[in-house]
Parts: sequence; C-alpha cells; structure tokens
Amino acid sequence: MEKLFINIKELVQVRSEAPQFVAGAQMNELPIIANAFLWIKDGLIKEYGSMDACPALTDVETIDATGRLVLPAWCDSHTHIVYAGNREGEFVDKIKGLSYEDIAQKGGGILNSTKVLANTSEDELYEQSKERLLGVMREGTGAIEIKSGYGLTVDSELKMLRVIQRLKAEFNLPIKATFLGAHAIPEAYKNNKEGYLLLLTDVLLPEIKKENLADYIDVFCEKGYFSVEDTERLMQAGAALGIKAKIHVNQFNAIGGVAAGVKNNALSLDHLEVINDEDIVAIKDSKTMPVALPGCSFFLNIPYTPARKMIDADLPIALASDYNPGSAPSGNMNFAVAAACIKMKMTPEEAINAATINGAYAMGVEAEVGSITVGKKANLLLTDKVNSYHSLPYNFGSNLIDKVFISGEEHS
Ligand code: NIG
Ligand code: FE
Repeated sequence: MEKLFINIKELVQVRSEAPQFVAGAQMNELPIIANAFLWIKDGLIKEYGSMDACPALTDVETIDATGRLVLPAWCDSHTHIVYAGNREGEFVDKIKGLSYEDIAQKGGGILNSTKVLANTSEDELYEQSKERLLGVMREGTGAIEIKSGYGLTVDSELKMLRVIQRLKAEFNLPIKATFLGAHAIPEAYKNNKEGYLLLLTDVLLPEIKKENLADYIDVFCEKGYFSVEDTERLMQAGAALGIKAKIHVNQFNAIGGVAAGVKNNALSLDHLEVINDEDIVAIKDSKTMPVALPGCSFFLNIPYTPARKMIDADLPIALASDYNPGSAPSGNMNFAVAAACIKMKMTPEEAINAATINGAYAMGVEAEVGSITVGKKANLLLTDKVNSYHSLPYNFGSNLIDKVFISGEEHS
C-alpha cells in the first residue's frame, strides 16, 4: 500500500529527528514545509519534502492536497471513553447551580457511572465504547489512552480493562490502557478505605499484571478521594510490577501530589488546574509531562491550567480531551487545541505541539506517532482548504478536517 500526497499547502510538524517532547520556548517552534509532498508506504512515512524534490512514482495512489494541510493526527493521552450510559441529568443539575463536588456528595458523579456500568454487559460496554472511539477518530484522534475507573470492583474493573484490550485488538491506532481503580472509594468500602486500597494493590493489580491488561496506573489524588500517601502507595505498587503512573492531580486542590508524582517517576501529571510555584519547580527538568484538559475546565467552569506560566517557566505541556461522562463529555481534540489558544493563551504552535508530539510522549507512543518523521506511522490529518494551521484554533467549533488516515488507511 502506497500513497503520495502532492501539492500540500503546509506539511505541519515536520521533524527529521523527532525529540521526545518539546518544552518552554521550543514549544513555540512548529516546523512546516510549504508546498510539500508526503509519500507513505506500508502504513509508515517513507519520505517527504518540498514539491521540487517530489519523486516521480508510478502505481501509487496520488492525493492532490492543493490548498490543504497535512498534520500528524491528534494524540489524546487522557480519556475515559469506556463508560456506560451518560450523566445528562447531572448536566442539568450543574446548569441549575450544583458543583461537581455537590453532585458527588449526593452520590452522583463517578459512583453514578459505576452503578450503570455494573449493570452493563461486557459486550454492550464494548459497543458503546467502540462508537465513541470511532467518533473521536473521525474528529482526528490517531492515538489514544483509555482508563478504567468506573468499575471499582474486581469484576467491573476487569470488565473495563478487557473492553480496552478488545479495542486494542480491533483498531489499528496506538491505544494505551490505564488502570484507574483508585478513581473513587466505592460505596461498599466507604468506611474502609484501607480495605479498598488492599483490594487494588493485592488483588486487582496482580491479576491485571498476569493478564497484561494495563500499561499504566492512575489515581485521583484529591481531597475526598485519595491522599498523597495513598497515591504514593499505589504508584509504588504499580512500579513494583513495572507499571508506570499517570495521575489525576491538582484538579481542585494542590495537596502535594505533583511532587509525589515527579518523585515516583510518573509519566504524566494530568489536570493541574490549580498549581503553585513549588509544583512548577518540582516538574522542571524532570521527565514527567504535565497535561492540561481544557475541555474539563470549560464544562465544569473551573480554572484553566495556567499553561502560559508553565511554558514561560520552561516546562513542557500536553493537551488531552479527558473525554468522560462527568467532567468532559467530548473527545474532540480540535476543541482542546482551540480552547488552549483562546482560554489558556497558548499560541497555535504551542497548542499543536501539545496535542501531537507532547501528547504522544504523555502516553509513551512518541517513537510511533506525533510528528511527520520518516519511519513513524502514517496517522495523519488532511484538512479542508484553509488559510494556514492558525485556522484550526481560529475557526473554533468548525470541523476543518476532511480526512483522517490511520497507518495510511483512510478512516471513515
Ligand atoms: O478527569 N477527576 C476525576 N476524573 C474525571 C471525571 C470523572 C467523572 O466525573 O466521571 C476527570 O475529570
Ligand atoms: Fe480524567
């Protein structure tokens, strides 16, 4: 299978040698080639360059991209797309004035999704999740991380992780699975958090390891959920089995989870709507990627991660959707990029870097995707006719993506 894109108006995020991620001032550099070609073979990027150097190929499918852009597909490093039903009732409660915390205190929130998921068969859960995955791929996602965390029992957590495993087997894009048993304390353990932690570390984790069901471990480190001490304990239990951490931290309160995450070599620290100067110092010069989730800030009306302050302090940042039924019921990465520019004052260059190369790093797939680099997967976006890559965030809410390619095959 070979394809040749010709006359590409802008080939975006071209890296002959891709760095693992970009940080600080480098985030504002987005290398492009104007009037470019891109040749893909066997699902991989074979060659690219200026049209002047376009090889004369016969017997290849040629796509004339006059007026259009080609970019690496979005890399969404934080989602919860495996869930059952929806939380539209809570959405209306929120409009009427209840906060995310108020809803959780009434027994809604994560525990509401847990009840619905417990009564949903694995096959049905797979079908619902598959539709969401197909939807976000149409919107341009070409690599994705998916979490458990609406099970909160041995059977239901394994059910979720098996659904992710099935998605990995059925779909041709990089998918990473994250075990988020520590998403909330389930009803049955409400007065016995220690018992629940033991269930996670001594029963679930070994079984997950045995069946190879998770690439990462996650914890909701937050007041009323899991403390910094609990979070460290879970990260260490994961590390003992070779499973790295990616954690939810500083969504509502800065309680010290950032330093703990860095100390325990977490691959990413996600949310960070509330971040203090010590947190920024802790992340600086580490290998831990901070991840902002602007869809969650938008939907919950909470502060946006202070990306400007972080980038100006030389930190990297990745953008992800957080697609979930409670705090961000959309997996549209185009929206994340636009909101990052409009609400977080990131430049289009910074936002596109954050949603491609840095997003890939935040889920450990940077060697495969995230940039236009020879040998990487041909997971690509072909836009409509647009003015420049600035159009993507500028025309927020518009779908400017014409086609999505996964390993060189058009996704429909
Ligand atoms: O990333 N904050 C914790 N977890 C999710 C929300 C989960 C839910 O409300 O269902 C988040 O925002
Ligand atoms: Fe999340």
